[in-house]
Amino acid sequence: MKIKQALTYDDIQLIPQYSDIESRSRINLQTRFTRNFDIMTPFVASPMDTVCGEEMAKRMYELGGVGIVHRFMTIEEQGDIIKRLQKFVYGKKFDDLYELWEENSKPIVGCIGANGDYFERGEHLIEQGANVLLIDVAHGHHKFVKDAIRNIKSKYSVDIIAGNIATKAAASDLIKWGADGLRVGIGGGSLCTTRVQTGHGVPNITSLIDVVKEAEEYDVPVMADGGIRSSGDIAKAIAVGADNVMLGSLLAGTQEAPGSIIERNGQLYKRYRGSASLETKVSNGQEARNVEGESTTIPFKGGVKFVINGLRDGLRSALSYTGAHNIKQYQTKADFVQVTNSGLTEGKPHLL
Ligand code: XMP
Repeated sequence: MKIKQALTYDDIQLIPQYSDIESRSRINLQTRFTRNFDIMTPFVASPMDTVCGEEMAKRMYELGGVGIVHRFMTIEEQGDIIKRLQKFVYGKKFDDLYELWEENSKPIVGCIGANGDYFERGEHLIEQGANVLLIDVAHGHHKFVKDAIRNIKSKYSVDIIAGNIATKAAASDLIKWGADGLRVGIGGGSLCTTRVQTGHGVPNITSLIDVVKEAEEYDVPVMADGGIRSSGDIAKAIAVGADNVMLGSLLAGTQEAPGSIIERNGQLYKRYRGSASLETKVSNGQEARNVEGESTTIPFKGGVKFVINGLRDGLRSALSYTGAHNIKQYQTKADFVQVTNSGLTEGKPHLL
């Protein structure tokens, strides 16, 4: 048996190139979200119940990205949020480069599963204004997902983002089944224990490269999900071909993330918990089985605006190092080296 080597974020670095960028603030980060929707910055808040509720989704629009509200609530509660998001208006001017969405052109994403009440939930969310559905399951290369996409598409013309997947074969099937966006990454998230529990998963850079190869041919956008710790990781995910990135831990702990602030010894914290963690399962009345995630307390970070602005600055800087004025050009020009452990150590502050 031939076993292929697989790489993740820490295994590669981008090679700096000639640049004519005079001002990083002139770099355009507009990118694709699904076949029919663009976003102004490539940041998407993960549909986890300690990351994205209504408040996060609204703020993400204002920051030019998208928040996908989690589905751990009744169909009616989720529908009411979608309705309010559909009506949500905000200052039109995003920055000097481009305007935010025209009326009725922003993606309004309803999150569903692939069994149980998924169809009823999806229908209600569409009726309340969702124009994109995200099928939120751990193993997206699955018959349930195939049936879910086909059933929804036979009745409604909404964009569907499907996942999570990690291979070219999965990308090929999901596209064939009708997906308009692919969510990529299995077992690489900061709280995931899927690889520990099941031995399955593919390091994130390799899974992205494999999926992008297929997705590009059919012009289907790719979302890099899980394991992103910094703007440097975002720069790498997009450089290998992802159109946007989904963030969990980076946005958890912010003011807008659901959950209350906890004070302990004069320090402020919030909970961050995996969707398949024991804590989430118990608090949502699910069976305490097939636990594939952890939960933890993380420092409170203040407003999400500061986090997103920092990530945006870092990503624009990355495009400047490559000499790229926009994301398309960046993906065409980007070049990499694989790094050793000593290269990785050298690349982090190491004096102290
Ligand atoms: P980060 O690294 O951004 O990852 O915190 C967020 C992504 O992790 C996935 N996720 C899970 N994966 N068990 C898993 O194996 C879980 O309990 C779990 N909860 C979230 C999900 O894809 C999310 O966007």
